[in-house]
Amino acid sequence: MKVGRTISAIRSVIAQGRADGKSIGFVPTMGALHAGHLSLIRAARAECDFVVVSIFVNPTQFGPGADYASYPRTEETDLAACESLDVAAVFAPPVEEMYPRPGLTTVSVDSLGDGLCGASREGHFDGVCTVVAKLLNIVGPDKAWFGMKDFQQAAIIKRMVADLNIPVTIELCPTVRESDGLALSSRNARLDEQSRSQAPAIYQALQAGSDILSKRKGSPADALTKARLIIETAAPLGKIDYLVAVDPNTLQDASATSSEILLAAAVEFPNARLIDNILVKRR
Ligand code: PAJ
Repeated sequence: MKVGRTISAIRSVIAQGRADGKSIGFVPTMGALHAGHLSLIRAARAECDFVVVSIFVNPTQFGPGADYASYPRTEETDLAACESLDVAAVFAPPVEEMYPRPGLTTVSVDSLGDGLCGASREGHFDGVCTVVAKLLNIVGPDKAWFGMKDFQQAAIIKRMVADLNIPVTIELCPTVRESDGLALSSRNARLDEQSRSQAPAIYQALQAGSDILSKRKGSPADALTKARLIIETAAPLGKIDYLVAVDPNTLQDASATSSEILLAAAVEFPNARLIDNILVKRR
């Protein structure tokens, strides 16, 4: 496995893979790899001969006062995990390599980034889109994998790739969870014992809402009322940032007749903001 610290180094490693006739798969990450990230790498490896993983904690997607400085950095174990999954190359650049000068260019996807996480994290998705566009230009993959856990992020990136004609296919993987349902996240480690025991209520609430919607036992509003009650009762330490039922394509409020509805929530616990979602197909 090759580790590239510079754009020119990773490009020449990937060019060799291409010259050998290999298909290039790409998994962008911010490191602190957990089983969710590893599921993306496995999915990429199952389809592509040459898998590239990037490990880059991207400063431009963290707001002022957000957790950029304290974001976990575990490069040694991340590299060992990549090696064990037969990753061909890891791109792990320093910040100066990605941002050698103040950037004058920002990639911004309208409307899809306004609600949900975009409402409380100003500029976050511009930072994500800009770095993902840069990474796709650097790596030039045939396919790139993203997690449904960050559904809004994946939807925005899909649209960016379509609008800008970036020649890559975006693939999505299901959310990997703890046995009690909590979606894996590098931020889970920050939860104190009480918050950790309450956090699975987010998924329980989404499941209860999903049950109402999938069996058409009630409207999106009914599903949200039930879900809200569960979070408020079972997770009093968590403050609901948003809890919504939206159309998965537009991310605008779902209607009572929608055949697919994304139930999504963000809950702020004392040391960690957690997000989760369920995509409900209605019968
Ligand atoms: P990061 O949070 O490291 O996540 C990297 C990828 O792993 C994303 O596609 C995310 O959706 C996926 N992922 C995270 N938790 C998951 C889980 N429990 N199950 C399945 N997949 C999961 O998302 C980012 O980094 C950054 O915004 C990035 C796209 C790398 C741009 O900086």
